[in-house]
Amino acid sequence: MIIAQISDLHIGYAGQGNICKNAERLRLVVGALNGLKRKPDLVVATGDLVEKGIEWAYTDLKNALKQIEAPVYLAFGNHDRRQAFGKIFPEFPYADGFLQYTIEDHPVRVIVLDTLDEGRHGGSFCQTRAQWLDARLAEQPKRPTVIAMHHPPIRTGIDWLTIRPGAGWVQRLNDVLSRYDNVKHILAGHIHRSIFKSFAGVTISVSQAIAPQAKLELADIDPDVPDGRILLVEAQPGFCLHLWNGEDITTHSAQAPCGKTLLRYDKKFAHVVRHTLDLDH
Ligand SMILES: [Fe+2]
Ligand SMILES: [Fe+2]
Repeated sequence: MIIAQISDLHIGYAGQGNICKNAERLRLVVGALNGLKRKPDLVVATGDLVEKGIEWAYTDLKNALKQIEAPVYLAFGNHDRRQAFGKIFPEFPYADGFLQYTIEDHPVRVIVLDTLDEGRHGGSFCQTRAQWLDARLAEQPKRPTVIAMHHPPIRTGIDWLTIRPGAGWVQRLNDVLSRYDNVKHILAGHIHRSIFKSFAGVTISVSQAIAPQAKLELADIDPDVPDGRILLVEAQPGFCLHLWNGEDITTHSAQAPCGKTLLRYDKKFAHVVRHTLDLDH
């Protein structure tokens, strides 16, 4: 089973009626996903679906996602807005007013969480959402499960894109996850670059964005002293493939386009594959 993850699409960044570079970047990644020999079983978009949570941007997003040759599931990020989203995507289920739901059709159960607190940049996971997650995990405590959410509940080392130590919502999530041992992976976004860490005993991977990426810089930042550092770079749009092999998840991070082809598995280079497989020994 393969879960493809796209994140931080920020569709509509240029405003209504203008050419959206993020939509073009999304098209590149959709082309990469559709071009895979082994297709993903599903695609999860982990939030910041649009730049501003307004209806026309969600309509543009919906049209763009139709090109993906796999079922697509959506999560909220801090740029999303519940009311506008609900008008364009009425098919998505809500729990207690939050975009939280499970995907049951595959060997691995996927639980989509809602960490949006409208108007705030940072994450949120209130008691209501935590109780819902606890109840869902309690339903199937032995089944391999993956959690998809926008805000990674981790200190990233990138000072302007990190959680605050001791944040209540992070503790709440940690408390629930610590009660179960069947959560195999957490997929997140929001940081606009690849990060790997563990949280509550679970591996967490943060996907690159469809939109431009955060520049890697781990120096402390002073909110009162702009030091001219680069915050965002164009880079290429990225995505992840999470491969379930029956035991655990292996996460692959990629960009599209992936660059010039240097080697192809055809008759001329078949020996390369035989050699790497050690078939001649
Ligand atoms: Fe984002
Ligand atoms: Fe975000």
